Amino acid sequence: MAKKTYDLLFKLLLIGDSGVGKTCVLFRFSDDAFNTTFISTIGSCIHHHGQFTTVPRNKDPSCSFIIVASRYFYTPNLGIDFKIKTVELQGKKIKLQIWDTAGQERFHTITTSYYRGAMGIMLVYDITNGKSFENISKWLRNIDEHANEDVERMLLGNKCDMDDKRVVPKGKGEQIAREHGIRFFETSAKANINIEKAFLTLAEDILRKTPVKEPNSENVDISSGGGVTGWKSKCC
Ligand code: GTP
Repeated sequence: MAKKTYDLLFKLLLIGDSGVGKTCVLFRFSDDAFNTTFISTIGSCIHHHGQFTTVPRNKDPSCSFIIVASRYFYTPNLGIDFKIKTVELQGKKIKLQIWDTAGQERFHTITTSYYRGAMGIMLVYDITNGKSFENISKWLRNIDEHANEDVERMLLGNKCDMDDKRVVPKGKGEQIAREHGIRFFETSAKANINIEKAFLTLAEDILRKTPVKEPNSENVDISSGGGVTGWKSKCC
């Protein structure tokens, strides 16, 4: 059997209104890249030649080409995608499986079904968009309703590089985070501010409450993306 290359698998989820920068935050962390083009997370493009051949990743720039070309079908379906990054914390190799959801309302039924297995949730708003901050309460209620009780939550006020367009004072973010007993960072995917710190802090917080098990390659289930042995799921 192939030797596993990590000790623990943590499943994380990014949620928040459309356009707040969830995908950019994820790409900054996973690929140290930033793209100014806004292509909303809306699902997979299916490349069709009389038979289904390939399913490119969401937000692949080729998707827009595929939609225009008549021989391709576009399926506005999943509204979810993920990236993997392995980090080392406290001498343990931790594989982070980070799911990026679509902020658009019409995908909520689908994306909330991904809350259940998440061990950490990053809730993102845009400091230049007041509505995205007002909706934080709604997103927090969604987490209460759909996620595991012991999920680790974190609030991010993204786009802090645009201070001239700021409409949400930092203090407001701090206040709501304090009220809900969660951590808060202002981030910028564009200027690479606090992105790595936020992910590593979230992973550390999860690690802190993960029961310590002797390393055993057989007890990590990657097939379901469902996490690590010892992680308590409320699901039967
Ligand atoms: P949905 O997929 O629709 O839910 O949106 P999203 O939250 O994933 O937003 P996305 O990452 O696609 O970013 C939306 C727009 O904001 C893009 O034009 C990005 O370039 C821009 N953006 C994202 N992060 C930042 C940031 O930190 N600073 C600035 N200035 N722009 C950003």
